[in-house]
Amino acid sequence: MTHPPKKRVFSGIQPTGNLHIGNYLGAIKNWAQEQHKYHNVFCIVDLHALTLPQDPAELYRSIRQVAMLYLACGLDLEHCAIFVQSHIPAHAELTWLLNCVTPLGWLERMTQYKDKSAKQESVSTGLLDYPVLMAADIILYDTHYVPVGEDQKQHVELTRDIAIRFNNLYGETFVVPDVLIPKAGARVMGLDDPTAKMSKSIDKQGHALRLLDPPNVLKKSIMRATTDSLNRIAFDPVEQPGVFNLLNIYQAITGQSEAQILAEFSGGGYGNLKKRVAEAVVATLEPIQQRYHEMAQDPGYIEQVLQAGADRVRPIAERRLLVAQKNLGLRK
Ligand code: AMP
Ligand code: TRP
Repeated sequence: MTHPPKKRVFSGIQPTGNLHIGNYLGAIKNWAQEQHKYHNVFCIVDLHALTLPQDPAELYRSIRQVAMLYLACGLDLEHCAIFVQSHIPAHAELTWLLNCVTPLGWLERMTQYKDKSAKQESVSTGLLDYPVLMAADIILYDTHYVPVGEDQKQHVELTRDIAIRFNNLYGETFVVPDVLIPKAGARVMGLDDPTAKMSKSIDKQGHALRLLDPPNVLKKSIMRATTDSLNRIAFDPVEQPGVFNLLNIYQAITGQSEAQILAEFSGGGYGNLKKRVAEAVVATLEPIQQRYHEMAQDPGYIEQVLQAGADRVRPIAERRLLVAQKNLGLRK
């Protein structure tokens, strides 16, 4: 019996700040879990990081850290290519071509742009263009599926619109991708404020569970997490966002159903819930941290991985860019 060819998955994370459990449960964990089913391309999107001011030395360090965390979280180089976006110039080139078919109004409507630009005194052109670069990342690799957290859904929908528009104007050029959002963990909220998304850019103690935080720090943040005074264990994001967030983290880690989790915790108090969530988080992150710290002993290793990754994906990107250039009349 012949099997249908494997489809391609593409996703990426910005090397800004410290990765947290939202990045893991919303994205990387699912990449690792499904990796054997697909051809996978996982990118460290350093050009996206430049859309907001970055310290150069810190950015350089962070690119390597994200790459090592990809591997420490279980991505297997037999199934995945891991590379740095800026190492493949085709991303920036295709962005220009796509810019010229993307109406400005589509970008001005993006909620992430509206949020981020509201927080900045002056906004770079790159921040507005961010989703077009993301579209280029995805469609350069003939991507079928884009596994991301909930916050990136609108950007993947825009990617579809751009690909469809280009195909209509210039003939079949790009695969139109689908988004993959996990059932649990797609939107992990801050432990200190369960009405705000857990974010890499918020440095406050007790907000995020960072993948490299020591166990005692993880435990402390969870034990202090904001809850409510209803004293009821239920999956109720409206009335009980704090309790919901803890249950959601627990569900994403354990893969259990809501009913199983409610049966496990009903009758117990919030202290017990927090203790169990803390144990589950620490048990998940400890082996990741151990692999990370071992890998970090040999900085040459990750350089070699990133170089091999770029070499592996470059031909795919260059082939698709050439088709776009031909269809636009730039090449014969
Ligand atoms: P970023 O940190 O913005 O580069 O996001 C990298 C990946 O993590 C994307 O797939 C996001 O959707 C996902 N992600 C970021 N923050 C969260 C969160 N709080 N909950 C779930 N997924 C998240
Ligand atoms: N914008 C994404 C984020 O911040 C990162 C990203 C860039 C990405 N290019 C991508 C995600 C392509 C998926 C596919 O989370």
